[in-house]
Amino acid sequence: MGIITGGDIDLMKESGRIVRRALDEMISFIVTGVTTKEIEAVGREIIEAEGATPSFLGYNGYPAAVCVSINQEVVHGIPSVNRRVKDGDLVSIDVGAYKDGFHGDAADTVIVGLADPRAMLLVRTVYEARDLGIKAAKSGNTLGDIGSAIQKHVEAQGFSIVRALVGHGIGRKLHEPPQVPNFGRAGRGMKLAEGLTLAIEPMINIGGYRVNTMQDNWTVVTADGSLSAHAEHSIVVCGCEPLILTA
Ligand code: MF3
Ligand code: CO
Repeated sequence: MGIITGGDIDLMKESGRIVRRALDEMISFIVTGVTTKEIEAVGREIIEAEGATPSFLGYNGYPAAVCVSINQEVVHGIPSVNRRVKDGDLVSIDVGAYKDGFHGDAADTVIVGLADPRAMLLVRTVYEARDLGIKAAKSGNTLGDIGSAIQKHVEAQGFSIVRALVGHGIGRKLHEPPQVPNFGRAGRGMKLAEGLTLAIEPMINIGGYRVNTMQDNWTVVTADGSLSAHAEHSIVVCGCEPLILTA
């Protein structure tokens, strides 16, 4: 479990800053016609130029530095020279960076060009839900308070929360305990302590919550083919407002 103190917070901030920069540059790079492999290259170059390494590359055999997941793809889309983003696509980018012993992890979702209003609401809702989850991540609160805040907001909009994948502790390892579900009941689960470092990452679908993994053994897609969006920040739990490392 990543409980962080003193100078280690500065190291986590540095990893978070690099993740943010890579994510921002990849998102600015997206236009109709670019391949997901080209998007990955932009992120990878920044991470390496910052003296960091991509956290995902080689993780459980994952073959790339970032995940790019489009439309009904929920997460873990593998960048490809054959996949071009097109007008109206909903594109999620997930990236992690490792430097001086610590990981950062974040994801954003954007829509390319002219967007469908329902897709726009989905994207807005995933950011709002993530930020409500972060707000609930105060010391003294519980994991259930985070999940409940996220779930309530998403379901109030008529969307569903993916259950098969969850957020996680983060620090010296990319994935540490505890698991951070994006659903649950307020007051339940582990109590949050000051200094606990978490990646909070709701994945939400327009249709049902069920997902499948594709033939490539990585890409997670919605079972009903509906659109999905993902947003993630790495944070540190504090007594007051959590510190967002990837803001
Ligand atoms: N942000 C995701 C996560 O926290 C991506 C990591 S999956 C990887 O689970 F295998 F590609 F690294
Ligand atoms: Co993560």
